[in-house]
Amino acid sequence: MTPSEKSADLRKQLHYHNHRYYVLDDPEISDAAYDALLRELETLETQYPDLITPDSPTQRVGAAPAREFAPALHESPMLSLSNAMDEQEVLDFDKRIKNMLETEEDIEYVVEPKLDGLAIEIVYEQGVFTIGSTRGDGFQGENITQNLKTIHSIPLKLFPSEEITLPERFEVRGEVIISRKDFQELNNARLDSGEAPFANPRNAAAGSVRQLDSRITARRPLDALFYAYGTDSTLGLYSHDAILKAFSALGLKINKERTVCKTIQDAIAACKQFETGRHDLPYEIDGAVIKVNRLDLQDELGTVARSPRWAIAYKFEPVQETTTIKGISVQVGRTGALTPVADLEPVQVAGVVLKSATLHNQDEIDRKDIRIGDTVIVQRAGDVIPEVVKVITSKRTGQERSYRIPDICPVCSAPVARSEDEAVSRCTNRQCAAQVKESIKHFASRRAMDIEGLGDKLVEQVVDKGLVRTPADLYGLTHSQWKSLDRMAAKSADNIMDALEKSKQAGLPRLLFGLGIRYAGEQTAKLIARNYTSIEQLYTVTRDDLLEIHDVGPEVADSVSAFFSDEINREVIQMLAEAGIVMTSEADTGQSTELAGKKFVFTGTLTKFKRDDAARIVESQGGSVTSSVTKKTDYVVVGDSPGSKYEKARKLGLAILSEEEFLELTDT
Ligand code: IVH
Repeated sequence: MTPSEKSADLRKQLHYHNHRYYVLDDPEISDAAYDALLRELETLETQYPDLITPDSPTQRVGAAPAREFAPALHESPMLSLSNAMDEQEVLDFDKRIKNMLETEEDIEYVVEPKLDGLAIEIVYEQGVFTIGSTRGDGFQGENITQNLKTIHSIPLKLFPSEEITLPERFEVRGEVIISRKDFQELNNARLDSGEAPFANPRNAAAGSVRQLDSRITARRPLDALFYAYGTDSTLGLYSHDAILKAFSALGLKINKERTVCKTIQDAIAACKQFETGRHDLPYEIDGAVIKVNRLDLQDELGTVARSPRWAIAYKFEPVQETTTIKGISVQVGRTGALTPVADLEPVQVAGVVLKSATLHNQDEIDRKDIRIGDTVIVQRAGDVIPEVVKVITSKRTGQERSYRIPDICPVCSAPVARSEDEAVSRCTNRQCAAQVKESIKHFASRRAMDIEGLGDKLVEQVVDKGLVRTPADLYGLTHSQWKSLDRMAAKSADNIMDALEKSKQAGLPRLLFGLGIRYAGEQTAKLIARNYTSIEQLYTVTRDDLLEIHDVGPEVADSVSAFFSDEINREVIQMLAEAGIVMTSEADTGQSTELAGKKFVFTGTLTKFKRDDAARIVESQGGSVTSSVTKKTDYVVVGDSPGSKYEKARKLGLAILSEEEFLELTDT
């Protein structure tokens, strides 16, 4: 295969696997195998930059900050929906339609969830993603192409199909959202690092998509679903439902939850079903949309003001309610963070009884001036634990009591500390049962060591019984110890032991994440494991070493180096190693090359390649590039008129390479 054929082939494979993973949620290959393909393409594109195409999966990483967004005009306006507040208004809508169409026959409708996110338009030219924009005022939005390209569920290239003829320019419209679960995790991470939490998933999605630095967008857990079409983009089809099916065949993610209804009564029933089931959906919805299915009827009905006559949004009951705060208690998390929780007079909010609401931290309590006994507005915001929106001060009687987070931990009675730069108060006792339980739950969680069957209740039992104090203890429990626990039969004990055995192979990135190092989320753990391929290397790592990794900031660097120089942490790691847990990253990268783990420094004027390209070559082969020369540097690559780094490398007796030698070493 020629390089050009090879890169086309790799792109095709990557598009296919990306779609299986992010759109269909049904991957065929492992993450490591996907990464290996991506790296192969990166290397090839570094060698032959002409082969980079706008739809290349390597272009999803995000680009340097823009100063502002350019305007983007919509070929046809992005409309809004008129609302129906109750059943009668839906019946009126149906009547208006029948009047206009001069028919008494039932109209076929499609009912879909009304997603609560940010509306976007994507333009595909010749099937390739070219422009992505926000809705803006409907006529003109903002060009956020770079940001939208970082969202994996948006195809960079549509799949060709025999049955579907794509127009030259194809415009699709949909919604960028964040699932409840991802929202929760994002907010927890923000609270952990002292940042203000987002009020709801909609704000989080909108805020993420409108970042000037698309590298920030790339790190947010965004998803996109498509439900509408722009100018000349109906693909010659006759119904809304048929278009959505075609979208799906082209690789676009659509909402599986839609229903085709033969009558308006069926449509109303479907709306109500969405309303009762809304909290079981993985993302937030604020209503249901009823659309006339036939496109010829849609055309005939047309638009009025800026809404189509053929569609209406059925709004759900508000998710806010009024109640009172009976008391405030405190929960202790994995990092010892104390979270105040309001104990509420039970209240029904959109079909669910609320008994408690998070108050986040002392600053939030002070800012909202929340007191025990207050009458408050509560809401469910994509959150299992709801929030207090505000206090109704006019209801105060003078009997209310203000609240301060305690100075001693309510679980273990150790002192609580709050550092100056953080909003969070923390329990200072690392052996605190609450902290231990939460860290073990985190260690076992799906994105960490993925120990199937080790649920919260089980973790609580083993900690309460004194069987487990560190994650390493899990691996030492015997079959009879597992079996002795509540609701555990021999079979479940077998399963847990199998799952523990399997988790030993999870690899360094998951282990690092599972250890729960402050500020080291999943991505950071992966990044570190790429630069330090075994845990021993991390024992001696300094803050400055870590700071040299591109994308590692001071908080992460401080926290990681402190974690590994801590005696107790080292002991736990030692015990994990003794239990047979894989402590290298080879298990995850699936590829080990001569350059794996090697550190490079480039100095002088490079004439044969650009520094960025060289860095990509090194990284694609498992090595890393740092900026200063130290004892730990493996290779110093020297271009024209090198300066002090070259001198230092010579003094330290490091391997010094010319540009040619570098190309040879990396097989470039
Ligand atoms: S259709 C021609 N379908 O609601 C109608 N909109 O008020 C165009 N939305 O800006 C929209 N879910 O952000 C449609 N399934 C859905 C939707 C949906 C959410 C939002 C969208 C739009 C707003 C209209």
